[in-house]
Amino acid sequence: MLTKVKLLVIVLVFFCSKSVLADDFPSLISANASIAVILDREYLDNQYDELLEGTKRLFERILRDNFKNGGLIVKYFSWTSINLRRDFTAVLSVANCDNTWDVYKNAAKEILIVLSITDADCPRLPINNAFMIPKTIPSTGYFEELPQVIMDMKTTNAFDWKAAVLLYDDSFDRDVIARSVLALSKDYEGVKPLSLSMFRVESHTHMWEKRKAVRKVLLNLPTRYIGNNFIAIVTTQTMELLMEIAKELKMVHPLAQWLYVIADTSAERNNISSVHPILAEGDNIAFVYNLRKNVQSCESHTLCYIENLITSLVHGLSKLIREEKAVYGQIADEEWEVIRMTKVERKNAILKIIRNDLTGKDNCNECSRWKIETGLTWGYAYQALLDETEATGAISNRKQIELLEAGYWTPQEGFIMQDFLFPHIVDGFRGIHLNFYSYHNPPWQFVAFNASGHPHLSHGVILDVLKELSRKLNFTYTITIAQTNLEYIGNLTDDANNTLTKDVHTVTTDIPSEIMRQLIENKILLAVVGATVSEKQKKFITFSKPISIQTYSFLVSRPKELSRVFLFLSPFTVDTWMCLSATILLMAPILYAIHRLSPFYNHFGRNNSIGLGKLNNCFWYIYGALLQQGGLYLPYADSGRIIIGTWWLVVLVLVTTYCGNLVAFLTFPKIAIPITTVSQLVRNQQGVSWTIRKGTFLEQFLRETDDPKYMRLYNGANFITDESDQMIRSIREGHHVHIDWRTNLKYLMKREFLKSDRCDFVLSMDEFLDEQIALAMPKNSPYIDVINEELIKMQQFGFMQRWLMKYLPSQDKCSKVRRNSEVENHTVNNDDMAGSYYVLLIGFSMGVGMFLIEYIWRWYKRFKEEKLQPYTD
Ligand SMILES: *[C@@H]1O[C@H](CO)[C@@H](O)[C@H](O)[C@H]1NC(C)=O
Ligand SMILES: *[C@@H]1O[C@H](CO)[C@@H](O)[C@H](O)[C@H]1NC(C)=O
Ligand SMILES: *[C@@H]1O[C@H](CO)[C@@H](O)[C@H](O)[C@H]1NC(C)=O
Ligand SMILES: *[C@@H]1O[C@H](CO)[C@@H](O)[C@H](O)[C@H]1NC(C)=O
Ligand SMILES: *[C@@H]1O[C@H](CO)[C@@H](O)[C@H](O)[C@H]1NC(C)=O
Ligand SMILES: *[C@@H]1O[C@H](CO)[C@@H](O)[C@H](O)[C@H]1NC(C)=O
Repeated sequence: MLTKVKLLVIVLVFFCSKSVLADDFPSLISANASIAVILDREYLDNQYDELLEGTKRLFERILRDNFKNGGLIVKYFSWTSINLRRDFTAVLSVANCDNTWDVYKNAAKEILIVLSITDADCPRLPINNAFMIPKTIPSTGYFEELPQVIMDMKTTNAFDWKAAVLLYDDSFDRDVIARSVLALSKDYEGVKPLSLSMFRVESHTHMWEKRKAVRKVLLNLPTRYIGNNFIAIVTTQTMELLMEIAKELKMVHPLAQWLYVIADTSAERNNISSVHPILAEGDNIAFVYNLRKNVQSCESHTLCYIENLITSLVHGLSKLIREEKAVYGQIADEEWEVIRMTKVERKNAILKIIRNDLTGKDNCNECSRWKIETGLTWGYAYQALLDETEATGAISNRKQIELLEAGYWTPQEGFIMQDFLFPHIVDGFRGIHLNFYSYHNPPWQFVAFNASGHPHLSHGVILDVLKELSRKLNFTYTITIAQTNLEYIGNLTDDANNTLTKDVHTVTTDIPSEIMRQLIENKILLAVVGATVSEKQKKFITFSKPISIQTYSFLVSRPKELSRVFLFLSPFTVDTWMCLSATILLMAPILYAIHRLSPFYNHFGRNNSIGLGKLNNCFWYIYGALLQQGGLYLPYADSGRIIIGTWWLVVLVLVTTYCGNLVAFLTFPKIAIPITTVSQLVRNQQGVSWTIRKGTFLEQFLRETDDPKYMRLYNGANFITDESDQMIRSIREGHHVHIDWRTNLKYLMKREFLKSDRCDFVLSMDEFLDEQIALAMPKNSPYIDVINEELIKMQQFGFMQRWLMKYLPSQDKCSKVRRNSEVENHTVNNDDMAGSYYVLLIGFSMGVGMFLIEYIWRWYKRFKEEKLQPYTD
């Protein structure tokens, strides 16, 4: 069922599109073009008759003089709601705004050329389908055409703002302002709606009063909520004031956009260039100002416009006919049907000719013209000079900021943009060439030497950041390597391959003085260095948002497994063992005493002086019971039995605990406890010493801190410039600890691993003291927010993370933290058993020793008896 419906729809669509696609309109050769001329009688009122007559005369004349190779059928209508048939080629209408749009909508369906003349304040018909002239009346005053200018500006999408602040001068006519606001806030097709916040600048007779008023208005703007886009419709005088005060209040910066619409200028009297001194690096300021000519008569006649339109239309038609004829004569009819223009192509071709004819030639209204200028302000102070010798002479020159002519407005053509209104917002630095400075400092910047021995920045996190910035902000660059650093790393290069053979740990806290000077003199946009954010340097330079946060750690020797010889002792702590021994020693006399003193034996006449009646038997019994061996003797009295019974219970608990723990200790090897925290380090008893790299942020921090823990760390530390082999040996042996960035320590570990193929080191778990690494920029740089915004984006897209990872040493078997991996399938070996063998050995030796002692004792006794015998005889 559904598929059937689908099929039907497809078939229908196919036929419909087929009928539309069929270009069955006549070519210009086979049929004369036709035009519908609509002169709205209601709109024109008493001018109608005059205009109709004039138009008819115009057509006659123009067709006679200018259209020799064809004909044009003209049909006149006096109302707008006509049915435009397909065989019309063009429509010419003179009507009010709404009706003009209605006519346009009808005509667009039939792909006709629309030429229209209408009221002021009418949104222009789409430029690719129609040509519209609004009748502005410049003669009545300076400001009459202002709303139309603003409307055209809005409909050509000169700015794509969602919200804007409108500042307007009190001296304007209320009606003009109201119409301008309407033009800005109205919704048009294909144009983003704009939400406006309006603020009035009161006019005052005294300058200082006005200054106060302007300042008050600007100070009270809640820019945080209404954005940083400003449109100021003001007079020249107010403009200068506004620019000055806005600059003072730091409201002009690379992220803000200021559009000044100035109506009270004229062709003779426009002093826009006087604002040059107020324009500064990074401002986005555009001017749209009046170039009105003071000619006697500025009236624009409808008939004049009609003449222009018809003349260029006829020009277009005759040109096309000429072209078609040239081709038509040479090819077959079928071929002609294939290659001839479609209706859309023909419409576009004619419109293009009309536009070409009329561009820049507005002979019906010579008075009205507005000019659009915009400040080219970004990167002027930092621009690289092509020739070094120019540098000294041209400093004042290169700081000159230019105004770029971005377009113009005329009633006939509308708002014509030749460049962007705010080029820097769209194109960033517009491809200018900037100079940067850098130096070798891994992993932030790596300097390498090319085949002819010239240093250049080869890779590094900061270079990646700069590349991304240059792509986003549209600038090119050269990087100069600071000389100070070069001499240092020059000694470390390998001549054969020109690569650095050793990691050079320069510090980030100390920007080379050459680069620092450039920053302080505000000669570079930023320094291509990863620098530590330090409060001290903030006095001279600015830091961007941190690119990375580095933490400090220790490098310690990998903890060794402890010997397992005394494994059998480890289930209990020393106190437990002592307690246990004490219990045995205590239990034996107690049992002995209870057994001997019990009246039970006396009463029943049993002998209690044998068996447990002897102290050493009691001792052996308690000991035997502990090892779960039954004794030979048991007391008969309940008192003694209770004691022994309780002991058995205690033994049960003791033995079970011991066995369980012993198994656990067999399975999990015991690792020495390494030094992992600062507190452990400063309080260590083993005489472990520690070193810190000189000149690091950590050193500065420790010097100033008053935390006792860190003070001890500082006082006990050795400060070194480079890691020596002897130090590394010492660390490996466990007598020393090195403190540095975690990243640097990872490099060191990697290097040692490659050398020895053993994992001798680990990093401490403890990471302390965050050190922020950021880009350094000149103090008060206007671009700090722009750069920060880009950095945050890089952060959010995960670029930063990726770049940082790229320069860290690759993972190897030392980098994973080893915990239980080896332990899972541990089988008990002789190492584990050694302890019990020792005990056995000791027991055996003691037994043999005892045996000998017993023998000697017996022999001694005998000897003594034999010696005494003669006397007793
Ligand atoms: C076109 O108009 C011209 C002059 O008006 C006329 O001579 C010619 O016959 C017309 N051609 C066609 C095809 O109608
Ligand atoms: C043009 O600007 C200059 C400098 O700001 C000023 O001295 C001059 O008076 C201005 N001219 C006019 C006509 O406003
Ligand atoms: C950079 O600026 C130039 C000059 O304005 C412009 O032509 C180009 O398209 C811009 N490039 C990018 C990627 O925006
Ligand atoms: C090395 O760099 C310098 C300076 O950038 C350049 O002039 C030279 O041509 C380079 N040499 C090679 C072999 O690329
Ligand atoms: C220089 O580079 C070559 C090939 O890249 C390498 O075989 C050689 O060991 C390197 N020399 C030194 C001293 O590193
Ligand atoms: C532990 O046993 C597993 C599987 O029996 C084996 O793959 C692994 O290598 C053993 N681990 C060690 C450290 O011997």
